Amino acid sequence: MDDKLRMIRFLGQYLAASRSEAQILEMAMIISQYVLGYDHAIIRVLDDDKLTSRKWIGFPREAADLNIGLGEGVCGRVAKSGRTILVEDTLQEPMVLKGVENCRSELCAPLVYNEKVVGVFNVESDKSGFFTERDIGLLETLATQVAAAMETTRLREELSRTEKLSVVGAMASSILHDIRSDIHTLYVSSDLLRNPEIKPERIEKLADTVKSAGENIYGLIEEILEFVRTGKSRISMKRVELLPVLESVVEQARSFAPDNVSVELSAGKNVALEMDRGRFKRMVLNLLRNAVEAMPAGGVVRVVCRQDNDEGVIEVADTGVGIDESQLEKIWEPLYTHGKKAGVGLGMAIVRKIVEEHGWTISVWSVVGQGTTFTIKTG
Ligand SMILES: Nc1ncnc2c1ncn2[C@@H]1O[C@H](COP(=O)(O)OP(=O)(O)OP(=O)(O)O)[C@@H](O)[C@H]1O
Ligand SMILES: [Mg+2]
Repeated sequence: MDDKLRMIRFLGQYLAASRSEAQILEMAMIISQYVLGYDHAIIRVLDDDKLTSRKWIGFPREAADLNIGLGEGVCGRVAKSGRTILVEDTLQEPMVLKGVENCRSELCAPLVYNEKVVGVFNVESDKSGFFTERDIGLLETLATQVAAAMETTRLREELSRTEKLSVVGAMASSILHDIRSDIHTLYVSSDLLRNPEIKPERIEKLADTVKSAGENIYGLIEEILEFVRTGKSRISMKRVELLPVLESVVEQARSFAPDNVSVELSAGKNVALEMDRGRFKRMVLNLLRNAVEAMPAGGVVRVVCRQDNDEGVIEVADTGVGIDESQLEKIWEPLYTHGKKAGVGLGMAIVRKIVEEHGWTISVWSVVGQGTTFTIKTG
């Protein structure tokens, strides 16, 4: 094998690893100059029917900056037809656009990927008749390698952008899901506050609920903004007295529960847990909302919390429709919803994520027609 072919093989091996576009173009220029011995070269890519330059050697800036239309000059014709053009003497060839002053001969090959022209590789010499028949084959081989490597890199970057977007999307939808729930609380609370028969102690509680829902929304917005800023959503663990938090969440559930559903709380006085307070509230609220929604004919939801040795246990039990055994595994899946008009199917996926973030466990017990109990253990 001669040196030129050896260099082309080396380029193929270099490009087979994952490279940035800058690395691909840099190495392609070094190797192609060795192989073809040209004076000037330029790689242009096709963007919206225009060729724009990506990398060049020996081209004046004005010439490199020129956007060339499909069919225009040598490069534009190669991009349009997908066929290599050799110009032996540029002075005799009217289709040559003015670029480099001294250019006397020119060879231009298409960058083809998946049978589509994605750009051109153009090389030039100050001597007329410089490029040979063999050079045509060599440049075409180089162009094929460069096109494949550039497209692979572009697709890889596109994929990682899509992945990032889908992470942001999942995060945003879970936050929006819970913001919607808090906004619903604000709506129903303001209606209840307008009721002329409302008792004064209820007004006090509803005012607390409005404040708590407002705090939740504020916390959720902060969380998403922090995620956009830093790419992370931090869990902020603190030792928290459970009773006041559960009282506030239960009060919020009472605001959206219909009259025939009662929401009860029984909690040991001094139960305290390491937790992210905001996420804990989101978790219990999602459980309570599902429990209330599972009792269209009315019933009781009971929140119980106790301390067993070092372990905190929280139970949310309802007397609702229950969950069929065959569906019990599915309720944790995002977008699984059953028997609800406006269900999205995110509530339980959010609950599970928050439980996992805390290193806790959750289990479910359910009998159709009798009710459902979720048990969270923190040990
Ligand atoms: N306490 C419960 N009693 C009966 N079924 C329940 C209970 N909790 C959850 N489910 C079932 O699990 C499904 C998934 O719940 P999840 O909270 O994820 O979604 P959703 O409530 O349908 O919609 P949303 O995204 O608005 O919360 C529900 O549609 C319901 O069928
Ligand atoms: Mg739900």
